[in-house]
Amino acid sequence: MIKLDGLDKSNVAVFISGKGSNLKNLIKFSFKKNSRYSINLIISNNLKAKGLNYSKIYKIKKKTIDFKNIRKAEKILIKILKKEKIDVICLAGFMRILTKKFIKDFNGIIINIHPSLLPKYKGLDTHIRCINNKEKYSGCTVHYVNAKLDSGKIIMQKKVKIYKKDKPSQLAKRILKQEHLLYPKALNKVLTSL
Ligand code: GRF
Repeated sequence: MIKLDGLDKSNVAVFISGKGSNLKNLIKFSFKKNSRYSINLIISNNLKAKGLNYSKIYKIKKKTIDFKNIRKAEKILIKILKKEKIDVICLAGFMRILTKKFIKDFNGIIINIHPSLLPKYKGLDTHIRCINNKEKYSGCTVHYVNAKLDSGKIIMQKKVKIYKKDKPSQLAKRILKQEHLLYPKALNKVLTSL
């Protein structure tokens, strides 16, 4: 925890694997007056992740870590997170499951955003599955991370209506828009309740 502007701000690392639109929104919100956090580090398992560009744009440290050997990768990660004094990890489109050992060793808050109304539709291809099952609503969920996929305690959710003619890509787009609003709100909520 560092003191900035008279407010306690937590040091956050965002883990990505791809586009990083949630990362970008978390960064943008971090500049707001009522934000309780700063983004200090971007981690990616994918050297080609587009989201890594936000490191340059916003002058945030980045590290790419090869996850082929997960034990080794997590060991390196723990060292980096300790060095950077990271309090909170936000997973944002990070396509790896962290081990129980990593969660224990990090010993801080880890949260994730998932594009469905958990506990429904864990895992991949949520939008297509929702549409095929003729669900009326989907949405997004921010939750704590445990060693089981998309299964930790729910922090906040936002419902999104599914229209009869929706294609998965259209639904994904509407949900992503809500993710961008929900994630910073949920992160701030977690930090305010500490
Ligand atoms: C989001 O839909 C998120 O919920 C899911 O992966 C996607 C990542 O998008 N876990 P982005 O990289 O933040 O644009």
